[in-house]
Amino acid sequence: MLQDKKILYSGMQATGTLTLGNYLGALKNWVTLNEQYECIYGVMDLHSLTLRQEPAQFRKNARSLYALYVAAGLDPEKNCIYFQSHVSGHAELSWILSCFTYMGELNRMTQFKDKAAKHADNINAGLYTYPVLMAADILLYQSDVVPVGVDQKQHLEITRDIAGRFNAVYGDVFTIPEAYIPKTGAKIMSLQEPQKKMSKSDENVNATIYLLDDKDAILRKFKRAVTDSGSRVCYADDKPGISNLMDIYSCITGKEYDAIEREFDGKGYGEFKLAVGEAVADSLKPLKARYEELLKDKAYLDSMIKNNDEKAQYYATKTLRKVQKKVGLTERIR
Ligand code: TYM
Repeated sequence: MLQDKKILYSGMQATGTLTLGNYLGALKNWVTLNEQYECIYGVMDLHSLTLRQEPAQFRKNARSLYALYVAAGLDPEKNCIYFQSHVSGHAELSWILSCFTYMGELNRMTQFKDKAAKHADNINAGLYTYPVLMAADILLYQSDVVPVGVDQKQHLEITRDIAGRFNAVYGDVFTIPEAYIPKTGAKIMSLQEPQKKMSKSDENVNATIYLLDDKDAILRKFKRAVTDSGSRVCYADDKPGISNLMDIYSCITGKEYDAIEREFDGKGYGEFKLAVGEAVADSLKPLKARYEELLKDKAYLDSMIKNNDEKAQYYATKTLRKVQKKVGLTERIR
């Protein structure tokens, strides 16, 4: 479709500010895998509508997310980075795929159950069919690989099931995508409740590191991170707090767990937490600086957005027309 390279596709919701979990579980790996694949990254603003958004802030967040992708090292001249809502094919394919998705399957989605429990006053149909739109995102671009954190694994599985079901009826229309889930960092936990995933919407400000936090905030949050009984830095199931910090440190420095254990042998939790905080703050510093610069250069971002929207629209339309034809919708008259 594009070049000889396989296609990598991923995206993030355009709500709030990215967290260290989003970065280590996904964005950082997008940058690492970038050269090997033809890459397409979406700012998933349609998915964000499943929760109520304040329009002006939402627009700002979506643009900020675009800039963060670029600041993290994704070159918008080499990668197709675009807004999901600018390509109408997502919603169109989503409708068709929803007719190939069973309610029984959607009922099993753990993220739906979690979000429905958290937002009991707004369990809308969009929240329920969210995985179908995600399947449409991925399948529209004939994606081979989708790098995500472990919380998205079930959504990738349903995408594969929907694609397989469609292909079984109509022939090889969709590429069946594979999830790419990193060995470390696939599930970064809250700094305050290490049994819980680090999340954008945590009410406890000390639980989450945001990518745009300043160094003082990062150091303070790590200093306050909940640790476990004992004092030895080692990776263990009964030490979720320290194990989470080791995961973070390992992702940032590339060091294995045993090397980290040796490095902090005989040193206490306090010293380790400070080292993790320093490593995280230092590694995010260039990203923040680049982000600030980008936001000032409106003309550059605008031109990248325009070019890439057109590219995405082109690829998406190709698949969409094929699907429409296969299911028997009347062809356009030219
Ligand atoms: P979202 O916006 O919730 O999260 C974006 C990415 O960050 C990963 N992630 C984490 N990884 C490790 N530890 C954490 N604590 C953590 N929190 C989040 C997520 O796994 C994800 O990879 N449904 C998707 C967005 C989406 C999408 C797509 C992704 C829409 N369409 C098509 C891939 C392909 C989501 O809500 O991600």
